[in-house]
Amino acid sequence: MTATSTPLKIRRLTYADLPQVIALERRAFPTPWSLAMFVLELSKSTGICLAALRDGELLGHLICSRYDTVWHIMNIAVDPDARRQGVASAMLEQLVERIGGNSGGGAQVTLEVRPSNDGAIALYERFGFLSAGRRRRYYQDNGEDALVMWRTPATLAGRLDDIPNVAS
Ligand SMILES: CC(C)(COP(=O)(O)OP(=O)(O)OC[C@H]1O[C@@H](n2cnc3c(N)ncnc32)[C@H](O)[C@@H]1OP(=O)(O)O)[C@@H](O)C(=O)NCCC(=O)NCCS
Repeated sequence: MTATSTPLKIRRLTYADLPQVIALERRAFPTPWSLAMFVLELSKSTGICLAALRDGELLGHLICSRYDTVWHIMNIAVDPDARRQGVASAMLEQLVERIGGNSGGGAQVTLEVRPSNDGAIALYERFGFLSAGRRRRYYQDNGEDALVMWRTPATLAGRLDDIPNVAS
């Protein structure tokens, strides 16, 4: 397919990317993040914010914050025209590499996802995330619960026994 012939580039997201990020965000989510929310995340020195580009065009973004020892994926989105081409996977691989999540360093990564978002859940499970509970009525637009998923040394072995605040 010609659309995938040029290699994908993953690099740090910058303030200059934000107009494209906002446009993508509006196409990807029913309740998109505001510009101010992205600016706040980019201003945090401890976070990791990534952009996926092909031929200079932004195809995806990923925002991950760090709270003490826990990494929290706050946002991941891929342009609807570029889905199922490995864009989100490439960003997650880069994130895992940057936080040392495959090197036995014990990185703990969490995220919230709508239980109805089968595609995203399948993606996270491929990366070793497991569901470890729910946050009641987390999404304000429709009152949907959030599934809380974790990727830790234990979940990579199919267990939940090193998840903070969750009974295994
Ligand atoms: C979820 C999302 C980020 C996935 O991005 P993507 O670039 O299409 O994902 P990838 O191509 O890397 O998918 C990797 C694997 O994840 C799974 N997957 C991804 N999307 C899927 C879908 N819609 N249905 C089923 N499985 C899916 C598949 O196993 C896929 O591998 P395959 O294509 O070889 O079958 C994208 O659909 C998106 O932006 N959705 C809207 C925003 C959103 O829901 N973000 C997550 C909020 S928690």
